[in-house]
Amino acid sequence: MDIEEVVRDGSLVLLKQGAEARVFESNFVGRRAVVKERFSKKYRHPTLDAKLTLKRLNAEARCTTKARRLGVSTPSLYAVDTVLHSLTFEFVDGPAVKDVLLEFGSNGIVEERLDDIAMQIGAAIAKLHDGGLIHGDLTTSNMLIRNVSNQLVLIDFGLSFTSTLPEDKAVDLYVLERALLSMHSSCGNVMDRILAAYRKSSKQWSATFNKLAEGAVLLYCILGFALFGLNRFSFFLIVFACLFQFGSGVENAPWLDKPRNLHCLLIHLHNGEKQGSLCNLLYKYRDEFET
Ligand SMILES: Nc1ncnc2c1ncn2[C@@H]1O[C@H](COP(=O)(O)OP(=O)(O)OP(=O)(O)O)[C@@H](O)[C@H]1O
Ligand SMILES: [Mg+2]
Repeated sequence: MDIEEVVRDGSLVLLKQGAEARVFESNFVGRRAVVKERFSKKYRHPTLDAKLTLKRLNAEARCTTKARRLGVSTPSLYAVDTVLHSLTFEFVDGPAVKDVLLEFGSNGIVEERLDDIAMQIGAAIAKLHDGGLIHGDLTTSNMLIRNVSNQLVLIDFGLSFTSTLPEDKAVDLYVLERALLSMHSSCGNVMDRILAAYRKSSKQWSATFNKLAEGAVLLYCILGFALFGLNRFSFFLIVFACLFQFGSGVENAPWLDKPRNLHCLLIHLHNGEKQGSLCNLLYKYRDEFET
């Protein structure tokens, strides 16, 4: 029996129809379960489509299991069907972090709960990253909170991969930061709380945070030069934008977070070190700080 027939039969209830997968609530040997079926995309070449679908299915199965081994809570994987392209997971009873934060946004923040959630998110990502696993789609919809224990559960490992590069870890965190900014800005700076927990739990936090900060510097450089061209005004604007960014995210860049460092950077600028790119100047400054 294929999935369409089971849906008509009433044993599967559609929970979510996404762009690449359909998620159903179902039953697996008497247990409440979730079936995630990846469907083919008609606009893709059939061979490529089959390859990609299978690749994501395998990635999700493997990486969910690997995350679990690393001590991160994920739903148990009950079954893999490579013919129907479906995975069957344990059903996690509880809201998505997205819904909890949206409720904080409209009805007021419960500080203790927000702290607990942010702490769990930071610690879970740190465990993944230290174990060389990148989630690839860290959004608040892909994080659930179990009703019985308030435990955070990570789901949706379809874009996950293994890597030990700080760049990949920084991009993972950056995706989460953008998601929080765009969906949950009314909850205050949740990312800072998450990064604080990450820093506590991860042994390799420093390399990752430096990459995250370098990404922000590059972004400001590109934006500044695109808006004002290469002149003294854009140069100073970019530097102050960077400082503002780092000042608000003290955890991100230890080499730029103290007034003494700010003072040193201004001295560099005063000395007329404006030859070379802003990035080079900041790298040089960082190196001085770290030695
Ligand atoms: N194990 C589970 N228990 C309870 N609900 C789940 C579970 N897995 C998924 N869901 C629900 O289904 C939604 C979609 O699942 P998921 O994020 O895995 O798919 P998707 O975002 O459509 O996938 P993709 O991004 O790979 O296309 C989740 O946001 C969540 O609400
Ligand atoms: Mg998802």
